[in-house]
Amino acid sequence: MTKSIGILTSGGDCPGLNAAIRAVGKTAVDHYGWNLIGFQNGFRGLMENRTVKLDGAALSGILTIGGTILGTSRDKPHKMPVGGKVLDMTDAMVEIYRQHHLDALVCLGGAGTAKNAYRLAQKGINVINLPKTIDNDIVGTDISFGYDTALSIATEAIDRLHSTAHSHHRIIVVETMGHKVGWLALGAGIGGGADVVLIPEIPYDVDIVAEAIRKRVRCGKRFSIVAVAEGAVSRETARERRNADESAANDKKKSPSKKSRPEPSDMDAASAGHTLMLAQQLEEKTGLESRVSILGYVQRGGTPSPADRVLATRFGTACAALIEKERYGVLVAAHGDEIRPVPLDDVVGRLKYVPVDHPWVHSARLIGICLGDQVP
Ligand code: F6P
Repeated sequence: MTKSIGILTSGGDCPGLNAAIRAVGKTAVDHYGWNLIGFQNGFRGLMENRTVKLDGAALSGILTIGGTILGTSRDKPHKMPVGGKVLDMTDAMVEIYRQHHLDALVCLGGAGTAKNAYRLAQKGINVINLPKTIDNDIVGTDISFGYDTALSIATEAIDRLHSTAHSHHRIIVVETMGHKVGWLALGAGIGGGADVVLIPEIPYDVDIVAEAIRKRVRCGKRFSIVAVAEGAVSRETARERRNADESAANDKKKSPSKKSRPEPSDMDAASAGHTLMLAQQLEEKTGLESRVSILGYVQRGGTPSPADRVLATRFGTACAALIEKERYGVLVAAHGDEIRPVPLDDVVGRLKYVPVDHPWVHSARLIGICLGDQVP
């Protein structure tokens, strides 16, 4: 029986999306002889029935191209902006899915996309998710595609910042992406030889960071590199947020419609301000000039690394094989050398935070990196 498959990309873009689309497509179309249609701009394209036929020509030459040929958005099926209102369009999406007589819908996305796909699954759509994000914060998989490329970009940036920090005897504070989880800052900080790494999971004390930098100066190192995740916070801010969360949780019980936490785009301005303030505090407390580099969207741009091309291809081919077995409602996940399905039920609503006792954290401390909670 010839199957018909739908595919979409949702959430922040990242290198590897087109490699994954290509792998799903070549396996589905060339190997199994199925039909494949793409929905444009994430779940919005499913609602608006904006499709593109993904045949051999469409899939050719996209392995190395960054971004997504389908376009993406952060629109959610149950909170879809339509004509100035925010509506639950889940049923409308199910109707489009049925109109196309689809056997499955492949969703390439992060933690937010898993939640949205799970909602569609509960309405009877056969969904399969592929783990996409530079944050590597998806539960149930060792790694997501996009992370390796962003790690390479951020690490190379930190490499380059060493020469200017050393030449000017400065503190360079380099902000990576990662508004809730610190894998990118931690990995790039270790790989790039940062002296301080600040991640959301370990609220920092700016006086401890300053003392670690002063200690380096006393040892003749009159420069320091501080790698900070955009979501890293001071101990004071962490305390204020916990209190705010508690009061928001209480408010939510009283008025459920109230917006809970800011969206990533709301966080961008806040994190930039936070990083600038941190740099200024460190300059005041150490006497060293400080400068800031915010890596931002450079970390999500350009061609995927070879590792991400291989990983995305493995996820995509495994996805098509799961459709052949009619195994739905799962995340295609990397476990060591294997790729295996993990029920979405075990994934949604959770993030893969950096454990404070993770081996990477331990290694960072052993080589003298300050994580903001103690002076090395
Ligand atoms: O989720 C991936 C990510 O790149 C985060 O690291 C970042 O904070 C966020 O997306 C930015 O979101 P947007 O692209 O909507 O500004």
